[in-house]
Amino acid sequence: MLVTKIATALFLGCSLTIAQLIGPVGPTTSPSAKRAHICNVLKYGGKIDSLDIGPAIGSAFANCVLKTPGSTLYVPPGNYDMVTWQTLTGGTTWAFQMDGFITRTGNSTGHMIIIQNSADFEIYSSTSAGGFQGHGYLIRDNGPRFLRVVSSTNWSVHDLIFVDSPEFHIVVDQGSNGELYNLAIRGADMGGSDGIDISGSNHWVHDVEVTNRDECVTVKSPANHFLIEQIWCNQSGGSAIGSLSRNAAVQNIVYRNIYTNGGNQMMMIKSNGGSGFVRNVLFQNFLGRGTKYCLNVDQYWSGQTAGTGAGVSLMNITFENWDGANVYGLLTNATVQRSPIQFLCASGAPCTGINLDNVNLWCETGTATNVCENAFGDGSCLQSGDVLPYSPVTMTISQPPAFTTPPSLPGDLDSGFPLTAAIPVPTIPSTFFPGLPQISPLARLQ
Ligand SMILES: *[C@@H]1O[C@H](CO)[C@@H](O)[C@H](O)[C@H]1NC(C)=O
Ligand SMILES: *[C@@H]1O[C@H](CO)[C@@H](O)[C@H](O)[C@H]1NC(C)=O
Ligand SMILES: *[C@@H]1O[C@H](CO)[C@@H](O)[C@H](O)[C@H]1NC(C)=O
Ligand SMILES: *[C@@H]1O[C@H](CO)[C@@H](O)[C@H](O)[C@H]1NC(C)=O
Ligand SMILES: *[C@@H]1O[C@H](CO)[C@@H](O)[C@H](O)[C@H]1NC(C)=O
Repeated sequence: MLVTKIATALFLGCSLTIAQLIGPVGPTTSPSAKRAHICNVLKYGGKIDSLDIGPAIGSAFANCVLKTPGSTLYVPPGNYDMVTWQTLTGGTTWAFQMDGFITRTGNSTGHMIIIQNSADFEIYSSTSAGGFQGHGYLIRDNGPRFLRVVSSTNWSVHDLIFVDSPEFHIVVDQGSNGELYNLAIRGADMGGSDGIDISGSNHWVHDVEVTNRDECVTVKSPANHFLIEQIWCNQSGGSAIGSLSRNAAVQNIVYRNIYTNGGNQMMMIKSNGGSGFVRNVLFQNFLGRGTKYCLNVDQYWSGQTAGTGAGVSLMNITFENWDGANVYGLLTNATVQRSPIQFLCASGAPCTGINLDNVNLWCETGTATNVCENAFGDGSCLQSGDVLPYSPVTMTISQPPAFTTPPSLPGDLDSGFPLTAAIPVPTIPSTFFPGLPQISPLARLQ
């Protein structure tokens, strides 16, 4: 039943990629064109099994890529350690072919690789096996993040594996026309292990798997025209928009075909005080199994210090075709009750134009309540009528008739990875949402 609905929604949504994004994403020239000129790190002071491949990456970039637009910075297959972090600024029409596997051994904070002010750029592994091991367990919350892409245009990150960053895994800091796909991200079972945090304009994120206990694929402000689809949060904190505070500006966002197994939530919008808006957002085709929360809008989020302002305005937000169940519902101890649907909106900035369409959320305990506060729209405990603040309204629900236990994926994890031991390196899967094919084949198959 649900599969049919999702298939129909997908069919109707075919033109959405075009409508949602406002132009092409990714590099404008092909990898093969850039392979005509190779900047191999082994010719710039690097060697396989190097104790610090960082300087060779920096040198190949400065002395080869920047001097010859249309080049590929190449890290050949093999293992490398890295101590010295690299900021690669200003490249145009270039690729970073990361076929090697780099292990963090340096302890500085910051980012191992920053790509900044690049245009027509791509970082990828042609074997779909290259990537980074951070051994974050040795240096928890006191080391580098892996990759930051800053203010770049027409770029992609794909076919890479990111394991156990001491801190976040991938940060996209504004820029436009980015595409991130075919990624496996595996962090520790704790906070501060964010998968992908992304801001900017006209970005497409698809076919990504994240294991951690913090952000899966999360939109940060400012953001407009994002399409985020086929995301497998495999024991993760879950995806979110936020945290938002002063002058938030998030609009025209579509998340669709999001599969969440375990972890915190199927989707959360989080803020505490602040100002600005989140508007024109569609959350379509969500499946969740065993999450703590399902649909969670919390504008009094306790994980955040209250920002200046009456609250972020949430407007015109639709949740469509959701199926899932959380693990805690109406417990006898009401202080730990977790509602499958929770809209805790700010009294100074009520949520308006919220639509729940075929949202079938339930709780594994067999009883549940939904809760709404200052939230207006259509569905469950959302109120209609004049937009005036109201106190939390708790609604006892029964199992939605269309609820079905969502399918599992082979490889769903039962729990996250331990904090005190090395995390094994995964391969990049080829399915990220039950029943849907990957959008682009893995690079190693091309
Ligand atoms: C990083 O810290 C670890 C543990 O303190 C230490 O063994 C290692 O030598 C340090 N690495 C560098 C490059 O200093
Ligand atoms: C980005 O790509 C578009 C075409 O898709 C092109 O019009 C634009 O000039 C490019 N921007 C930069 C900074 O290269
Ligand atoms: C509401 O948001 C949807 C996207 O979910 C968008 O298509 C629609 O144009 C928005 N409506 C208004 C009035 O902006
Ligand atoms: C309810 O659970 C919370 C959190 O586990 C605990 O601190 C509190 O003491 C419990 N209250 C009762 C009445 O059992
Ligand atoms: C999800 O869990 C399965 C089972 O362990 C594993 O094969 C897969 O690689 C996991 N995904 C990630 C990103 O770790």
